[in-house]
Amino acid sequence: MSVENTLNNRWFSEQWLERIDKNVAESTGLPNALYTDPEFLRFENEQLLPSAWILAGFTHQAPNTGDVIPIEVAEKPLILLHDENDEIQVFHNACPHRGAKLVNSLCSGAKALVCPNHFWTYGLDGKIQARPHFFGGDQHDIHEPGKGPQGLRPVRSAVWHDLIFINLDGKAGTFEQYIKPMADRLKGYDLASLQHVGVLEWELNCNWKLVHENFIEPYHVFAVHPGLLEFGPMDKRRASEHEAHCFFNDYQFPNPDSNRGDGLPHFPNPSKTMENQVLWFHLFPTLSLEIFPNQMAVWELIPISPEKTLERIHVYLIGDTATSEEFAEGRQKVFDTWHGLNEEDIGVIERMQQGRHSPGFDGGTLSPFWDSAIQHYARLMAGAVKSKRAKKNQTKE
Ligand code: FES
Ligand SMILES: [Fe+2]
Repeated sequence: MSVENTLNNRWFSEQWLERIDKNVAESTGLPNALYTDPEFLRFENEQLLPSAWILAGFTHQAPNTGDVIPIEVAEKPLILLHDENDEIQVFHNACPHRGAKLVNSLCSGAKALVCPNHFWTYGLDGKIQARPHFFGGDQHDIHEPGKGPQGLRPVRSAVWHDLIFINLDGKAGTFEQYIKPMADRLKGYDLASLQHVGVLEWELNCNWKLVHENFIEPYHVFAVHPGLLEFGPMDKRRASEHEAHCFFNDYQFPNPDSNRGDGLPHFPNPSKTMENQVLWFHLFPTLSLEIFPNQMAVWELIPISPEKTLERIHVYLIGDTATSEEFAEGRQKVFDTWHGLNEEDIGVIERMQQGRHSPGFDGGTLSPFWDSAIQHYARLMAGAVKSKRAKKNQTKE
């Protein structure tokens, strides 16, 4: 038996694969090892995440030409920068000469990137500008800005409002295909009016996938967030829909919740439905986003290890005045609310992680009403493992 088959069986047994396509009540979630095994995190970082469109950063991190930021996504060192054409570029953060990490810390006003090792110099377009002593002592290789050969290796990227996405292997479908299911449902929202106003951060003792799974599952609201019931009672909530890589849910709230920032500006020209509507989305594998009439929240999850995750919730409000003193109290309430809700979630998410060490649990039994999204999530993950395997086998033949 090949090593790959051994790994496949280790993650998904034949019985598991048979169950996953049955109806929800007979189906199950992901096997325990996918939340605990460092080998699976390696698969995610080396294969699953590079083959998809994934969240990499935010344009507000590099608002001006010459802003350069070293980032790490799927354990890959990358450079995110704001170039002279007012566009965001993403490059691999390794000097093409001897592979030194090119950018180590944030900088602003940069005109070029200089490697400390032999001073090879790259423009913000990634093109080579100078290679000192390249042809021998005092024999330099110099190019006009923009005229030299390509130096830095670009990463396929796309910007959607404030969010920056990348596709590391360059082989995913178009970005439009990826974003469309969500963008279509957000027609009517003037997303250009969103202002990033802050970020909340936690370190969780759990696998990163459990945070997304918890996000797409509204079943837990009555038990974990009883405070939300007045705002959104269980009988107004429904199971998440799912189609291909997109998970989607919404509800209409009967009364506004003052803790959601009463009095803050709303999206301009809202339709009647938008005024009382909450929408949330997960675009597999890394984007979770929730939108209210007066705010948006975006989840950024960075796996530290299989059982440790850095979680950031980025909060957006509407319009230029959202950051003014006038709305300071409303803003604070928004942060306090997200903070409180997330603390409630963390309590159960970490318990779900702990339960994944029990030989008495391995994927679980699902609610026929609420959990088809959990089944679909597991199916997507199994599908990603299978398709990667199929591609590898094809390459070998
Ligand atoms: S390693 Fe960067 S210039 Fe040589
Ligand atoms: Fe929750």
